[in-house]
Amino acid sequence: MSAKNRVKVAVTGAAGQIGYALLFRIASGQMFGPETEVELQLIELEQALGALKGVAMELDDCAFPMLKKITCTSDYAVGFKDVNWAILVGSVPRKDGMERADLLKINGGIFTTQGQAIAANAAKDVRVFVVGNPCNTNALICMNAAKGVPSDRFYAMTMLDENRAKTQLAQKAGVDVTAVSNMTIWGNHSATQYPDFYSAKINGKPASEVITDTEWLKGTFIETVQKRGAAIIKARGLSSAASAANAVVDGIFNLTHDTKNGDNFSMCLASNGEYGVDKGLIFSFPCTTVGGKLKIVEGVKLNDFSTEKFNVTLNELRSERDAVKELGLI
Ligand code: NAD
Ligand code: LMR
Repeated sequence: MSAKNRVKVAVTGAAGQIGYALLFRIASGQMFGPETEVELQLIELEQALGALKGVAMELDDCAFPMLKKITCTSDYAVGFKDVNWAILVGSVPRKDGMERADLLKINGGIFTTQGQAIAANAAKDVRVFVVGNPCNTNALICMNAAKGVPSDRFYAMTMLDENRAKTQLAQKAGVDVTAVSNMTIWGNHSATQYPDFYSAKINGKPASEVITDTEWLKGTFIETVQKRGAAIIKARGLSSAASAANAVVDGIFNLTHDTKNGDNFSMCLASNGEYGVDKGLIFSFPCTTVGGKLKIVEGVKLNDFSTEKFNVTLNELRSERDAVKELGLI
């Protein structure tokens, strides 16, 4: 069988934990499909290029049939050159004693420079998928810096939250995880996100009818999903990596393959005012891909409980936006 397509994919933070779990899955064809050849353009800080070389050697040693080229660099102009996808994983984590504003400032600098480099070097059809935290606001900064790249090409990841939520519902209902659909995460990839169990379905029925323990849904379920990242850090001593990489694969697969009839997936993207979210805010919505085009699912009903939760995460994103605005980052 001869391959028809080829994509060039930049990954920042490629020598980090997520990078190590992600690159092999992209190279194996799991993200873009078995007929799409892949060129990887791996971007790291200069001091991590040695470790990155080791990762590239391991990629070579897999002899992946669809992997056609690997570039390792710390130069954004080289790393983002002609890429169709930019997966932005590298960012600086919060350290002890660091204020939130310090973190936004440091990452703001990174995502501004990367946005500019993407605009200057990437392919005309580039799409940008932000994983590095705070991912919604990093995506907002990047989008604003990438002059000339349409705003609908920028995404931040809530796929991991969706997968976490699906498993919690499936385990509670005693069903296979594949029975859970329409699991929407609204808002920010943070502890304010709203995993909307009212919209979720189990075997096609509202999850809130299948799971009758409403107290659990409104309490334990939401909190477990919201705090799962912190729980993983506590248990592992490191933040989630393999599950995060898996979510990147699922997330970009969902963006590049049409959604199964009736289902939807969660993706953070720039609002056009849907559900009253401020225009331009990077907010997680229920989405579908139809004929290759990403659409926000409209008309999802939000009851009083959902509206309250929705507003909390919306207000958090507004305050993150205002903070980066004040820092002159957007
Ligand atoms: P890590 O520290 O293991 O790796 C990050 C890598 O990024 C490092 O190798 C570092 O050298 C590199 N890096 C830093 N700044 C860079 C820059 N300017 N350009 C290129 N590379 C740079 O971290 P990790 O565990 O791989 O996590 C990466 C990010 O993903 C973190 O911000 C983490 O909080 C976030 N994350 C997001 C989700 C999500 O669901 N959205 C889930 C898990 C983790
Ligand atoms: C996660 O959801 O696992 C991560 O975003 C947690 C983190 O703070 O790195």
